[in-house]
Amino acid sequence: MTLVKNAVFFILFSAFFINANYGLILIILKSSFTISKLRYLKNINALYFTLMKNASFSLKKLKLAGIYIHIPFCKSKCNYCDFYSETNNANNIEQYTKALQKELDLRSSYFNTQQIETIYFGGGSPSTLSVEQINNVFNKILSIYKLSDNYEFTFEVNPDDLKIKYLEELRNKTSINRLSIGLQSFDNNDLMLMNRRHNAKQAIMAVKNAQKVGFNNISGDLIYGLPNMTKLKWETNLNIFFELNLQHLSAYHLTYEEGTLYYKWLKQKKITEIPEDNSIEQFDLLIDKAKNNNFIQYEISNFGKENYFSKHNSNYWNREQYLGLGSSAHSYDGQTRQWNIANIKNYINSIFENKIPAQKEILSNRDKLNEYIMTSLRTKEGIDFDYIKNNFDTHHLKTISNLLNKKVKTNLIIKNENNYILSQKGKIISDAIITDLFI
Ligand SMILES: C[S@@+](CC[C@H](N)C(=O)[O-])C[C@H]1O[C@@H](n2cnc3c(N)ncnc32)[C@H](O)[C@@H]1O
Ligand code: SF4
Repeated sequence: MTLVKNAVFFILFSAFFINANYGLILIILKSSFTISKLRYLKNINALYFTLMKNASFSLKKLKLAGIYIHIPFCKSKCNYCDFYSETNNANNIEQYTKALQKELDLRSSYFNTQQIETIYFGGGSPSTLSVEQINNVFNKILSIYKLSDNYEFTFEVNPDDLKIKYLEELRNKTSINRLSIGLQSFDNNDLMLMNRRHNAKQAIMAVKNAQKVGFNNISGDLIYGLPNMTKLKWETNLNIFFELNLQHLSAYHLTYEEGTLYYKWLKQKKITEIPEDNSIEQFDLLIDKAKNNNFIQYEISNFGKENYFSKHNSNYWNREQYLGLGSSAHSYDGQTRQWNIANIKNYINSIFENKIPAQKEILSNRDKLNEYIMTSLRTKEGIDFDYIKNNFDTHHLKTISNLLNKKVKTNLIIKNENNYILSQKGKIISDAIITDLFI
């Protein structure tokens, strides 16, 4: 239950988006799971396949596997971000990529399948890696696993790293076939306040150059609900985004994460949160604009053109197994969750002593049911009641059905045959609804 409780914290604080033989593994059962440990669900940031047919994907049929590689290096820290990364540490990148290769060996029997559908390099800033370093890790993956024919290999990039030469190398010398660009905003004042290293013009150029060298599956991240953000400013951001003709959008409402400068400024009253009505207005606008531009909202914060949903992240939301490598990365095998130590130096040292510096939590049936409720309700398919009937203890059925029907009566959830799906009104307060539904 620990995991799920903390997952609730994660979604509550996240406004509307609201991500065997292991060598020697350090296991601490039922250790407390903190909010940050679930951050990857969001790239979940972070996690998600060839499940899409006619722009819809089935939540339960295939057993798919993905590999997440965390690159915890950034050139500078953004004022809103508490993803685990270190700055001024570029000297360790080479050694870190060697440790990643070693960890792949140590965990080579993690999956009960040898076929990998998705690879995701996330951060931190993967674009701090050279093409050679990317390929060294990728080739190690290939030496252990077979990559499915229609694999997805996503690489997160910062606009300021996207010089044309680097982009050409990414396109022509690696197997990366999907880019996720951290655009955040097209407003120079907001970018400055966020401590981003690029301005709006550079972000637009980065996208155009990525398209020019031949990337045809590109996602952009935007943040709304920023201090002083007006509906008009958000609309301008969205207009510029949709003019760029990308295939996917991840749009997150700003969350004030403890430990960030934004959080400090909020406490010091140097900045203020925008009123709730403005947040709702911006979320509604996002949904409308996405619809008008043929983007399908397949998860609360994620929008894609038909056939361009993130397979890797869908994997996370569909509770498929994934292996997370690197400092602070998470893994899930259907029964347990593990998370690696969030400290680059200790991670490298431990791996070279043949020890995986991870903690582990075994999920109870109740944890799994609550996780199912939490992840499926965020997707456009919603909760499949038959799935619950077939996969979980039947004595919870009556309780869940009563809870769901209450939400249907208040128009927060729509019942479509056996599926329970969030209404637009429900999406806005999804975290509160999910909390109410937990058993
Ligand atoms: C790992 S981060 C960024 C990838 C890349 N390093 C970059 O900055 O361009 C993934 C995304 O999470 C989002 N994000 C991070 N912290 C956030 C916060 N506090 N509130 C809202 N969105 C956040 C940002 O949109 C960011 O691009
Ligand atoms: S948003 Fe990206 S670049 Fe900025 S600190 Fe977070 S991971 Fe690093």
